Amino acid sequence: MKKIFVTRRLLKENEDKLKEIFEVKLNASDKIYSPSEIIEGSKDCDGLLTSVTDPIDKDTISKLSTKIKIIANGAVGFGNIDCKAAKEKGIAVTNTPDVLTDATADIAILLLLGASRKAYEGRIEAEREGWKWSWDFLLGKQMSNKKIGILGMGRIGRAVAKRARGFNMEIHYHNRSRLDDKLEEGAIYHKDIKSLFSISEFLSINCPATPDTNKIINSKTLNYLPSNCVIGNAARGDVVDDDAMIKALSSQKVFAYGLDVYNGEPKINPGYLKLKNIFLLPHLGSATKRTRWDMAYRATKNLEVFFKGEKPQDLVN
Ligand code: DGY
Repeated sequence: MKKIFVTRRLLKENEDKLKEIFEVKLNASDKIYSPSEIIEGSKDCDGLLTSVTDPIDKDTISKLSTKIKIIANGAVGFGNIDCKAAKEKGIAVTNTPDVLTDATADIAILLLLGASRKAYEGRIEAEREGWKWSWDFLLGKQMSNKKIGILGMGRIGRAVAKRARGFNMEIHYHNRSRLDDKLEEGAIYHKDIKSLFSISEFLSINCPATPDTNKIINSKTLNYLPSNCVIGNAARGDVVDDDAMIKALSSQKVFAYGLDVYNGEPKINPGYLKLKNIFLLPHLGSATKRTRWDMAYRATKNLEVFFKGEKPQDLVN
């Protein structure tokens, strides 16, 4: 029986399923392991089941046991793993696409709504005794009938577009390549971000974290946006230059920002915490029971198929 090192505690049903197929080393305390703990703990294992909280960089990969042949990441994003280094060492890497598309797109809309309608300030006011309705109380920005720019029109970006159509928004997007008509569903393609940003009254960030998208939202690109725009980030913190964003929020160039993901999670740039025009969530994009179950099940399937000698459907390297 192959042995799998599972870096984080899974839902019980998922751990039971894994145990039916593999010998497993589970993490009952759910402590976030350091790279050296992962290297040490997985010495006698054949594969890893990792989570978004595990940075498996080049150095860690070089020190992993040569027994390890696969890293099944329980996430659609795999920026936490150096896939090239893994490939060079003969280690397959898989992710879990599709199953979290809807949950994450729901959160992307929540971020835009929470930010634009001042949900954070609303909560503070609601808890304050003596608040009262008035004509100019906490006036936000309405999403309906506006133009939304979607940065990254993969599965999640397209699911955001689908929801935005329900708000009668005009859908614009930028992607590495233009989608075909069927996937575009009338969305307007912009071949560069300057063009996309210049019309984005609302901007939803849904692109993966890659060297190309690192800090793609910076002081230069923020300037392309119309004043008083609203931004939501359900993708990755690395995509945003926090200092530039905090400056844009402080000057109201950006009306409000909703974010679920952070540079160096779980740390949050303290500049954000001083602002009221933000709406923060602690990386809840895929946090529904159904979705988490599906993600771990999909990672398990990738391991199972791989050890049967077949190509896993979600191989990314
Ligand atoms: C993912 O799958 O990439 C999500 O961010 C995990 O919650």
